[in-house]
Amino acid sequence: MPVSTPAPARIPDALAGLDVLRRQDPEIAEVVLGETARQADCLQLIAAENFTSPAVLAALGSPLANKYAEGYPGARHHGGCELVDAAERIAIDRATALFGADHANVQPHSGSSAVLAAYAALLRPGDTVLAMGLAFGGHLTHGSPANFSGRWFTFVPYGVDAESGLLDYEHILRLAREHRPKAVVCGSISYPRHPDYAVFREIADEVGAYLIADAAHPMGLIAGGAAPSPVPHADVVCATTHKVLRGPRGGMILCGSHLAERIDRAVFPFTQGGAQMHTIAAKAVAFGEAATARFAGYAHQVVANARVLAEGLEAEGFAVTTGGTDTHLITADPAPLGVDGRTARGRLAAAGMVLDTCALPYGDGRGIRLGTAAVTTQGMGPAEMARIAVLFGTALGTGSDDIHRVREEVRDLARRFPPY
Ligand SMILES: Cc1ncc(COP(=O)(O)O)c(C=O)c1O
Repeated sequence: MPVSTPAPARIPDALAGLDVLRRQDPEIAEVVLGETARQADCLQLIAAENFTSPAVLAALGSPLANKYAEGYPGARHHGGCELVDAAERIAIDRATALFGADHANVQPHSGSSAVLAAYAALLRPGDTVLAMGLAFGGHLTHGSPANFSGRWFTFVPYGVDAESGLLDYEHILRLAREHRPKAVVCGSISYPRHPDYAVFREIADEVGAYLIADAAHPMGLIAGGAAPSPVPHADVVCATTHKVLRGPRGGMILCGSHLAERIDRAVFPFTQGGAQMHTIAAKAVAFGEAATARFAGYAHQVVANARVLAEGLEAEGFAVTTGGTDTHLITADPAPLGVDGRTARGRLAAAGMVLDTCALPYGDGRGIRLGTAAVTTQGMGPAEMARIAVLFGTALGTGSDDIHRVREEVRDLARRFPPY
């Protein structure tokens, strides 16, 4: 049963702007403040989520939301864009400096929009693309029949080694030689290790394919120097700006200068209309934050926390995929505890610990996927991670009275580390 939390009487100082909403529209204020309270009252362990800073939220809630700005800085279809042009130039400059890229497009509305634009720039309908299969952790945009990608391109899926759960590069090379794809995609929603981008580059080169890195998940770790970067190896890097990167919900694309014009035209006007200038300003704020030594410390702590949590889950009896993690995310099969992923997610949610289910490579049923980005932003460290692992074991191993007890402890823990 999911946890719902009533709106708090007091609004945190960092979110003072919500006072206006409470006075003007109590109905929506109840939802927004209730959600704010839920986020602060539970453990947010969804691997793709985080808490943005008050400065990011301020840019998102600013009058830049009023501005129409089709086109690019200095070449807009609307008047009055001088100041939002400045915001976009700052975002681009900060992104290229942060990731060491020649060119950045900061307009994609989401990670999926970024991938759509990358395909639009490099491929023709019907082309063959080699990407991680959805059953192994590929994203919907990596060839799902329910997504534009699976409808418009011919995807050849690769998986992971059945024993180790790791990418099998020999197998990927064999598939590339057999199918001669126009593009190879690396990146996943649930692979807890780093892809070897140099090896992917060699595979793509051998068959004359583009290499597209979909780094939506690790982009914040890359920014903080806690994960290897695909930028020197991939033709195009797609990413989200939320997740570990801790920016607003949105996407971006990095590429070499030889592809800059194709990427820009694929975003606007081919797949998108007006840029969302409030979000672009918020992306700039997040890139600025991510360039600090403090953020680098955060990114390394995210990984250290995930390792402690993975070890703790193994000690509690979970079968942790690949035996651990190098990133912010962990996938695990709770079957040894006598429950499947869906049941586990429900019981953990009732105890105030919120996470996702995920496909299990070669497993029966579904596993759980969780990450440490949000709890690390709250300031939690290894001691809290070790305790959370024990609380997982207790919540899944016992009856409803104990769930109630775990819920109380989770609430106390979360309240000791307020996100705002
Ligand atoms: C690898 C990967 N690609 C693309 C996306 C899509 O991002 P969005 O949900 O912003 O469209 C995600 C989101 O989780 C992802 O993990």
